Amino acid sequence: MGGDDSVAGVTSPDIETIGVLTSGGDCPGLNAVIRGVVRKAEREFGWRTLGFHEGYMGLIEESFEELTIEGCRGILPRGGTVIGTSRYTPFMFDDGIERVRATLERHHVGGLVVIGGEGSLSCANELSEMGMSIVGVPKTIDNDIGLTERTFGFDTAVQIATDAIDRLHTTAESHNRVMVVEVMGRHVGHIATWAGMAGGATMTLTPEEPFDIDEVCASLTRRHNRGKYASIVVVAEGALPKAGTLEVPEPEIDQFGHKRLGGIVNLVAAEIESRTGYETRVTVLGHVQRGGTPTSFDRALSSWFGIEAVSAIAERDFGSMVAFQGGTMVRVPLVDAIAELKYTSPELRAAARAFFA
Ligand code: F6P
Repeated sequence: MGGDDSVAGVTSPDIETIGVLTSGGDCPGLNAVIRGVVRKAEREFGWRTLGFHEGYMGLIEESFEELTIEGCRGILPRGGTVIGTSRYTPFMFDDGIERVRATLERHHVGGLVVIGGEGSLSCANELSEMGMSIVGVPKTIDNDIGLTERTFGFDTAVQIATDAIDRLHTTAESHNRVMVVEVMGRHVGHIATWAGMAGGATMTLTPEEPFDIDEVCASLTRRHNRGKYASIVVVAEGALPKAGTLEVPEPEIDQFGHKRLGGIVNLVAAEIESRTGYETRVTVLGHVQRGGTPTSFDRALSSWFGIEAVSAIAERDFGSMVAFQGGTMVRVPLVDAIAELKYTSPELRAAARAFFA
């Protein structure tokens, strides 16, 4: 990893000021990371921390605030991010990189903590390769960042989805219905699989294993023929049918080039109802999974990530990402962390399948 004494566009090796930003979709635990960063920077090193507003936009537009231990009081359990977030990156602007570099230089930012998911960390890696002094923190409820067993926010999302599935059981059973519930998970089925197992779902459809709607319906029919009259099908928003089995309309693309997902659940529910004759209802959990207070695990993990990110800056371990492996904190090269998404393991999927239908 980096290892030299260069700082973010500044020549002095002495750090007095660091920066932090939150980028991409918000996630429970962001404020806990910020608090951890500020706590360690101020208390252990006497550094100032600048919180850049709305992700990389704060660097581009030179919009920030000074964060202090005092000012961070009370933010640990709060959802969202006190410094705002956005999906913009400097690469979306002609002069974005120069502006980022100028902001870092003008404010003598000796190290920058970028808290983000796959897209934001890829950007952080590119900026790092351009010589900027960056440490990444893996954020996403999807839990799909490589080389870390957990991203923060995931545990909270699974808990929220599990609570919802628990509630759906009683209403499904009262009406003898099939409930199809959509959870987040753009490329991976971590939330769907863990919440599905935790909530006793009838089956789980994930992006990793394209589904066959004939098999889904046959399996539900077998279950209902055995005398069960209610079922819960958990669908990750990125789940897709096997090629040629079901036509899926092309999703819209948003201004950041991301597919606007959501809708597969309606298709699945409509097919189940028409093919099996069982009354079927849809629940889309959506952004509820990202809002509100983090679980105790996510609060602690986020806090630890924040502390470790500042240690990385102090050791000039730039171009690295803090990661959770084997129950402890490690650092991995950012470039390796973003190389490949982390999918659910075959072992996890096999265990989940044991409970299907
Ligand atoms: O990446 C995290 C995530 O919550 C995904 O699970 C989801 O597909 C996406 O963000 C939704 O993004 P937006 O906030 O733009 O709707």
